[in-house]
Amino acid sequence: MTLAQLRTPAGAAALERAAVVVGAGPLVAAQSLRAAGFAPDLAAAALTQAGLRAAAVGKFGAEAGSMFFTRPGLEQATRRAVANRRAARLANSGVRVIADLGCGIGADALAFARAGIRVLAVDADPLTAAVASANVAVLGLDSLVSVVCADATTVDLSTVDGVFCDPARRTGSGRVFDPKAYSPPWDFVSALSTRVPRTVLKLAPGIDHALIPAGAEAEWVSVDGDVVEACFWYGPLASVPRRATLLPSGVLLTGSGRSGAPVGPVRRYLYEPDGAVIRAHLVAEFASTVDGTLADPDIAYVYADSVVATPYARCYEVREVLPFSVKRVRAALRERGIGTLTVKKRGSALDPEAFRRAMRLSGTGTATVVLTRVAGAPTALIVDPL
Ligand SMILES: C[S@@+](CC[C@H](N)C(=O)[O-])C[C@H]1O[C@@H](n2cnc3c(N)ncnc32)[C@H](O)[C@@H]1O
Repeated sequence: MTLAQLRTPAGAAALERAAVVVGAGPLVAAQSLRAAGFAPDLAAAALTQAGLRAAAVGKFGAEAGSMFFTRPGLEQATRRAVANRRAARLANSGVRVIADLGCGIGADALAFARAGIRVLAVDADPLTAAVASANVAVLGLDSLVSVVCADATTVDLSTVDGVFCDPARRTGSGRVFDPKAYSPPWDFVSALSTRVPRTVLKLAPGIDHALIPAGAEAEWVSVDGDVVEACFWYGPLASVPRRATLLPSGVLLTGSGRSGAPVGPVRRYLYEPDGAVIRAHLVAEFASTVDGTLADPDIAYVYADSVVATPYARCYEVREVLPFSVKRVRAALRERGIGTLTVKKRGSALDPEAFRRAMRLSGTGTATVVLTRVAGAPTALIVDPL
């Protein structure tokens, strides 16, 4: 079953029917399509695509219902809000024609085009490139995007004034953490800015800070508190050494990423910075916004005497500070009549779920326990979210 068949009138009808019945479960849905006269292979392909479209709504909104996906292509695709923000920044920086090297199903390419940038979208995988083409056509962006199936390392970049590369970080056996295993390879990707100065790389949030090139900007992006990517902005695109971008609000925190926050005792309020702030090494910059200190130089919990409304962190009021011991924490929680416990940790090797079970609680109250270290010592804090 090919993508081309799904794009015929019969394929469109099968997709329309599949969208209605896909939630009924695989057997019922397949029977329903066959009863409507669709051939088994077309019915199966339409149902797979309908399932992918439903799963894609979180990343692409209602538009997912008319797009095409492969499973790996959807998993690796940039969500629309993140792609739009990057595209707007590139357009504002004067990029007019961009090469998207390893375009996948086209999530970033579509965003570039919508920001008015012409796109040369390249993917080495023929099906993935065909899916990107289909998405460009379905969304009416053919005049701005050409999709080419090729190895990115062979592409002529003399006609573009910007490059975006989101290398594949997965193999058949799972995620790849070592940039040397990226595809296209890291040596090629990391040298792109020497060919086209306005280069942006999308990388895994866990990218090693040692790989941030001198003069480049490293940005970490979170969506609803989950860190979704790191991005290196090169040459004229770099504006600050480190940036945390928190979506959907779009609020930014910037800084050098180098300074350490002051250290002090546990104070009345605990702030848990957004993951993008932590990954960008901007905890000191955040701490200064709440007049806060760390209780351990290596742990990104910030403590302060007052509550400050901040977009950069969640705030908790500290109720009790206990040197860590299962018995002591259990006794303290039982005394408070706690039955429902949320466990958070930073700087503790304990498994939060195993710890929660070990508390054997049966009360009616709720509480949050933070397992951490204070001046190097394992410590449990009983806190209330504000
Ligand atoms: C992480 S995905 C890109 C996702 C894309 N930015 C999106 O949001 O839809 C990486 C893509 O790079 C492609 N790729 C891997 N090696 C490549 C190469 N040497 N040349 C071109 N494409 C390549 C893979 O087929 C995959 O589709």
